[in-house]
Amino acid sequence: MAKIRTAVLISGRGSNMMALLDAAEAPDFPAAISLVLSNRPDAAGLSAAARRGVETVVVDHRQFDDRAAFEASLNEALNEKKIELVCLAGFMRLLTGDFVEAWRDRLINIHPSLLPAFKGLETHDRALAAGVRIHGATVHFVRATMDEGPVIAQGAVPVFPSDTTDSLAERVLAVEHRIYPIALALVANRKARVVSEKVMIDDDGSHAGDVLIVPHCR
Ligand code: GRF
Repeated sequence: MAKIRTAVLISGRGSNMMALLDAAEAPDFPAAISLVLSNRPDAAGLSAAARRGVETVVVDHRQFDDRAAFEASLNEALNEKKIELVCLAGFMRLLTGDFVEAWRDRLINIHPSLLPAFKGLETHDRALAAGVRIHGATVHFVRATMDEGPVIAQGAVPVFPSDTTDSLAERVLAVEHRIYPIALALVANRKARVVSEKVMIDDDGSHAGDVLIVPHCR
């Protein structure tokens, strides 16, 4: 089957993007990363992607009068490359309902918490402040409301009393890099379907243990 043409949208260092690029190198991976797009010309991930031979494009939000014009340009870049699926990976722009609806169930995001807990920014600080014992990351289909949408995969990590924001962020990031490729593969294989705003996984069971990952790492 033809690989699903996928774009990764970034604003920064792009470590999740790199995890997706690594996974997509496997011959049987169902998605091809056909484009890396950033709204920031200085995003470190852009040069990392280019070094890997992936086409990159910048759509600088500061060049546009409003979100609609910015998103029209995003859509133009995506359509030009015949993109079928979009992965947000540290893309720090809110997208309008119009854009999200146009890409409904073809637009996924990774968020560094176990949603619906800790939507928004500074999730690790807030997890530490709340005293939770388990934290993690979520890959979900994007909906118009920020950090909401059907959950495709989650990875959990323990929170230790000695944790700092950085140590917790590092542990969560490792799990992000594991669950994002799993989630992308499930969507690209059409094994993750949205039914009544929940994700049903059509699978032979081989992914069942992957979707919740609790690594024993410190
Ligand atoms: C990740 O923690 C991701 O969950 C969040 O932004 C961060 C991006 O990191 N949405 P990177 O650019 O993928 O390294």
